[in-house]
Amino acid sequence: MTRATTNQPFGRRTHYCGTLRVEHDGQEVVLAGWVARTRDHGGLLFVDLRDRSGRVQLVFSADQTAAGVYDLAKQLKSEYVITVRGRVRRRDPAMVNPNLPTGEIEVWPEALHIYNPSKTPPFSLEDDVDLDESVRLRYRYLDLRRPSMQEAIMLRHRVTKAVRDFYDSRGYIEIETPFLTRSTPEGARDYLVPSRLYPGSFYALPQSPQLFKQLLMVSGFDKYFQIVRCFRDEDLRADRQPEFTQIDVERSFVDVDDIIQDTEDMLVHVYRQVLGVELPQPFPRLTYREAMERYGTDKPDLRYGLELVTVTDLFTQTEFKVFRSVADAGGRIAGLRVPGGGKFSRKEIDDLTQEATSRGARGLAWLIVPEGAGAGAGAAAAGGGPDPASMRSSFARFLTPAEITALLERMEAEPGDLLLFVADQPPVVAAALGYLRTVLAERLGLIDESRDAFVWITEFPMFEWDEEAGRWAAVHHPFTSPMDEDLHLLDTDPGAVRAKAYDIVLNGVELGSGSIRIHRRDVQERIFAMLSIDREEAQRRFGFLLEAFEYGTPPHGGIAPGLDRLVMMMARRASIRDVIAFPKTNRAQDLMTGAPAEVDSRQLAELHIAVAAPKPGAR
Ligand code: AMO
Ligand code: AMP
Repeated sequence: MTRATTNQPFGRRTHYCGTLRVEHDGQEVVLAGWVARTRDHGGLLFVDLRDRSGRVQLVFSADQTAAGVYDLAKQLKSEYVITVRGRVRRRDPAMVNPNLPTGEIEVWPEALHIYNPSKTPPFSLEDDVDLDESVRLRYRYLDLRRPSMQEAIMLRHRVTKAVRDFYDSRGYIEIETPFLTRSTPEGARDYLVPSRLYPGSFYALPQSPQLFKQLLMVSGFDKYFQIVRCFRDEDLRADRQPEFTQIDVERSFVDVDDIIQDTEDMLVHVYRQVLGVELPQPFPRLTYREAMERYGTDKPDLRYGLELVTVTDLFTQTEFKVFRSVADAGGRIAGLRVPGGGKFSRKEIDDLTQEATSRGARGLAWLIVPEGAGAGAGAAAAGGGPDPASMRSSFARFLTPAEITALLERMEAEPGDLLLFVADQPPVVAAALGYLRTVLAERLGLIDESRDAFVWITEFPMFEWDEEAGRWAAVHHPFTSPMDEDLHLLDTDPGAVRAKAYDIVLNGVELGSGSIRIHRRDVQERIFAMLSIDREEAQRRFGFLLEAFEYGTPPHGGIAPGLDRLVMMMARRASIRDVIAFPKTNRAQDLMTGAPAEVDSRQLAELHIAVAAPKPGAR
């Protein structure tokens, strides 16, 4: 045993609380931790002692414990931090707690030392009752003491370690890139850092290491990765923070399939190592176009079906004006089949309509499939199809029986289903029905929460039209390579050009994005021209990269899965804030330190900065 000191009055700790088992029966142990709970049974005092591994029950007895120790124990309150030396004892069979890993034993202390008392915490650290998040964030160090938060943060450690091990084993080299740098091309707002030595000049914190990792390929490192903090000043949500962590990867002499394969292997390795889960490979793949058509989104949740079905072709000759006008205008009419949705009340259907219009639809046409109708019934049996007038529907009265029969068949409808249709330009149809799909899956309990439904989305469009700026913008970023087979469309039909860009999506959440990059100067210049980035601007923003490209640039590409999002999904949490030790609020504040905060006028003067805005709250 080690010598006693003030920090270790009983020598070194011998065990973590949560690791004690029956096999330790009779052993002397030294434990240290926080008092989770005390129960005084008059002459018998039970104290739950907690550390990061779990908890164990301490027993102090008026009869059997030395009087000085017993009296000291009576002073213990929640969150006092203490150490004890004592003996492990098997519990009476009647006293065994099967819900606790240490429930078969208890520890009878012979010595107790209180390191520090504690004020009563502002919230209970015992359970996961609904706590006000702002209070949790204000006292984050206490929030992090809660077992569920300890689990999440330790899971994050194991994920990070598994990621590092994986890339190391595949010959990737971890290289750090600067935080004080120039603006990067990811398209969010930058966080700026003023320069003291160059008044009026600013560093930008990186939104990603994109340009540096490409330069590392020019340098010949061939396979790079970095677990790296990125900074983006954008509107925050549950899965977005102003600073977050990417698993940033880049590799030379590769094409799309190589990056997809490596990334899949990494995820399989991490799930196996950390959760003991075997993910089936290969992960499914959908092109962007398929995803938009079938799910109305480029991040579909594949844990459930409810696919969108196109019915436009059935209505090119219809008398129903709403559908006809859209079909004539080259739009899309698509539907969702909601199994058992016939039970919905009129109010529930009206709510769905509202949800569809909130996403831009001009209306929602609905129909309840009656008994005796449906895909299997067939027109012949019914002698020309169901009677439109007798159906519960917002639009069946405008259709012919033959149209209804064709519609039910196309939708593979069953009696008792609710069918929902939106007619509009394809992006509106996708947005409205894609949203209804997620709302309905939730409402009908169709989501299998135990599943991890990964899917690759490939062949993203290269450009999107920026209405405001009146020009084409890069969907991923300006260094993304167009698909070889679409190069000829660059001048004639830019909207149709697909990129060598891909996303990995899990349960409807975008985990990561990447692309194969352009490595030829002529192609890069054409893309800049398409994006209306003129020579001067290109030179100013990315000149160093373009120059580097003239010194032997290998073909290369990469990806960046978000570590926070990955851990959030693995920990089954609803927000990345729950897997980040010290996150910021949705208003980008750190409630504990009070950042962002004003600084001394002396600091501002040194930076040659004068603040023009009114002080917050002074408005
Ligand atoms: P992208 O901008 O798509 O690509 O980002 C990649 C991944 O980073 C995560 N992420 C975020 N996580 C939390 N909070 C945020 N504010 C946030 N923003 C992004 C997401 C996202 O999928 N350089 C490219 C990658 C490449 O082409 O290799 C890039 O940064 O999980
Ligand atoms: P109306 O002829 O305007 O009464 O429309 C008949 C039905 O079609 C109503 O249920 C409307 O909500 C619905 N509807 C109107 N416009 C659209 C549209 N663009 N897509 C789908 N349904 C629509």
